[in-house]
Amino acid sequence: MDEAYHPGLEGVLAAETEISYLDVEQESILIRGYDLIELANHVTYLDVAYLLWHGDLPSEGERATLEQELAATQMLPNGILTILKALGPEVHTMDALRTGISALSAFDVEGGGGSGVEAADRQLISLWAKMPALLGESYRIKHALAPMQAGQGASYVERLLWQVTGRPPSALEIDVFDKLLTLYSEHEMPNSTFSARVIASTLSDVYGVLAGAAASLKGPLHGGANEAVMRMLLEEVVNPNAMAPYLKAKLQAKARIMGFGHRVYMHRPDPRAMMMKRLLGELVEAKGASVSKAHDLVAMCQIGEDVMRQEKGLFANLDYYAAPVYYLLGVPTELFTPIFFAARMAGLSAHIREQYGNNRLYRPRVRYVGARGRTLPPRE
Ligand code: ACO
Repeated sequence: MDEAYHPGLEGVLAAETEISYLDVEQESILIRGYDLIELANHVTYLDVAYLLWHGDLPSEGERATLEQELAATQMLPNGILTILKALGPEVHTMDALRTGISALSAFDVEGGGGSGVEAADRQLISLWAKMPALLGESYRIKHALAPMQAGQGASYVERLLWQVTGRPPSALEIDVFDKLLTLYSEHEMPNSTFSARVIASTLSDVYGVLAGAAASLKGPLHGGANEAVMRMLLEEVVNPNAMAPYLKAKLQAKARIMGFGHRVYMHRPDPRAMMMKRLLGELVEAKGASVSKAHDLVAMCQIGEDVMRQEKGLFANLDYYAAPVYYLLGVPTELFTPIFFAARMAGLSAHIREQYGNNRLYRPRVRYVGARGRTLPPRE
């Protein structure tokens, strides 16, 4: 047995995959052989999702079929709405999402139910299709707002943005949001993907696998960071002049600054963050004057980037620049992390299928540092 212990499994190879790879030396995120940033610039989120699932980009017909499949199973069963209502106004939207995913297993009657590998593809499409309604209705039920449906004929990406903002999006907003979803679609082996593969390796069903992945992704050290960034900027820093002193005081107190650092590229730029920063610039140019705080947010982000580089040698990660982009798109802060999950459904689905297709149960060992040889006290 290999006795080497790597806390947090840092540097450990946990799977063999054809799906994606963080090529740190080349500063490239490989998705089935393509560069993620190039994909985000030239093809759509659904193209990348298809690529992740099937290994190749879709033809026009294949893309249209995927759109149709996602439209056909988009409606939430009434029972799910009842469960969301029972959660009450205090629930975190990520917890509502996780509960909804888990509960959907009980309503899986469309294709005759079933669990494990055979049913997985149909269930994954059905779950992914329901993400716009699940996110939108979780939020609206929590805030006692009327139910809403995106317009007939809206594409998957348009439907998701419509559901989370409550209004029909503009062409520019759809384009920026599509690129954001692509940037979030897949990223090799983050904690949530690892969690999904570990659960899938028991041949458990996709509802349980994805509920586990959602629990992982909620954490502030992972997907929850985008929400934390927004709260820091809007509620704690508030104006650009306060950004540098705020960060320095936090670092002095050994606090973590959300939106900075990454296990794989800790001291290198995250290529996704750089593209997101460019998208933020485009949005501000197009609609900055009409959105309160837009210019302040850009200024705060730049100061934050400079201070963190000087003080800690740390770079912004994707979540740092995604937060103000969501804000300018009109997405409520509590839906930032659920959208990350919805986008990541593309990559997670590919990993789940790959795990089922070439499975070996995950079952590592430990370095035991506890007591040995203890004896029970004599019985009275
Ligand atoms: N703020 C301040 N210091 C940091 C940060 C940060 N955001 N990130 C890392 N560091 C410092 C640590 O304090 C530590 O310093 P030290 O060696 O002087 O003690 C050093 O960098 C290494 O940190 P570790 O925690 O050992 O590194 P790890 O790989 O475990 O952490 C993580 C990675 C969790 C992402 C970390 O950078 C972090 O907490 N970032 C903030 C949360 C965040 O933005 N998460 C989003 C990740 S990206 C995503 O999910 C899309």
